[in-house]
Amino acid sequence: MNDHIETARTALLERFDALETKRDILKAPELRQLYGAMKDISAEERPAYGQAINELRQELESMVAKAEEAAASASVTPIDVTAPYDLSVPADKRPHALPSATGSVHPLMSELQTVLDIFYRMGFTAVESRQLDDDYHMFSALNFPEGHPARDDYDTFMTVETDNNGKQFIAPAHTSTMQNRVLREHKADLEAGKPIAAVIPGRVFRNEDLDARHEHTFYQLEGIYVDKGIHAGNLLATFKTFLSNYYQQDIDIKSQPFYFPFTEPSFELALSCPFCQKQGCNVCSYTGWIELLGMGMIHPNVLKEAGIDPNVYTGFAWGGGIERLVMMKYGIEDIRHFESGKLEFLRQFS
Ligand code: DAH
Repeated sequence: MNDHIETARTALLERFDALETKRDILKAPELRQLYGAMKDISAEERPAYGQAINELRQELESMVAKAEEAAASASVTPIDVTAPYDLSVPADKRPHALPSATGSVHPLMSELQTVLDIFYRMGFTAVESRQLDDDYHMFSALNFPEGHPARDDYDTFMTVETDNNGKQFIAPAHTSTMQNRVLREHKADLEAGKPIAAVIPGRVFRNEDLDARHEHTFYQLEGIYVDKGIHAGNLLATFKTFLSNYYQQDIDIKSQPFYFPFTEPSFELALSCPFCQKQGCNVCSYTGWIELLGMGMIHPNVLKEAGIDPNVYTGFAWGGGIERLVMMKYGIEDIRHFESGKLEFLRQFS
């Protein structure tokens, strides 16, 4: 390397440490002089000389960039979480643990809105379920007599406090708790010739061993339809229409017999996999089908309990997890993301 350049380099490197504004090194007179001397260099040596100055400049630039980066990270002082909360600090100067300027609707709630819109267009109204209910609505009104073994399938949480019948209050394990209320409320309309058509979204709870498919807290959507002459074909057609709308493609369904105390007959419904159109993929465990929810024709005892004559009216009902529907739509692999409050997950939907 040219002697002039080497001398200038040594001087610049020595000065660099002392500089308060590191970027000033790029305006140093030594550098300017080196460029200025270019015209006095012979045409033969000029290219090598030019390249050597450029290399020196690049070396200085990268030192400046490193120093600036180090200064930026050193200036973020850690938050002292034990410090007393100081009200006199203006809002924009307070530490922000979550620097999110705007919140957003939780993906489950925005998907629920889409689901409800489809059912509104089919003539259903929506009623929300409760987060604390009683033994009568959880079991007795749904044809689970006292001591019935099927009660064990709905293991959930209970309060210590009891209701007027001496029964503990229950964090509902399904949205079917609302069936009796909806049937009673609309009985008069039904008798005046208006079918009962309601969907019931709600938060439900179960004492579960948690894994990618099981949560202790999740959401269900219940549906209920009663009129004269209603049969299982109406139920299946309603569901095929809903699913095809929700997944924006033609969805096939199949039902298989099941058991619920509050429906007779009872089915479990499976839908064709919206990911692979029945070709087989890891979402459907290579079966082409995914089990979705329980449904059936409302048991005569459930109608009777609400004061509706099962010899005149028949109806169908269904109930199933909303998370499962949404997971299949977006390829979400773990149900626990929904209740986790993880911003990395939530921001994908904001
Ligand atoms: N409540 C049931 C459950 O959570 C699902 C269900 C099945 C609801 C059949 C219904 C129905 O309304 O008719 O396991």
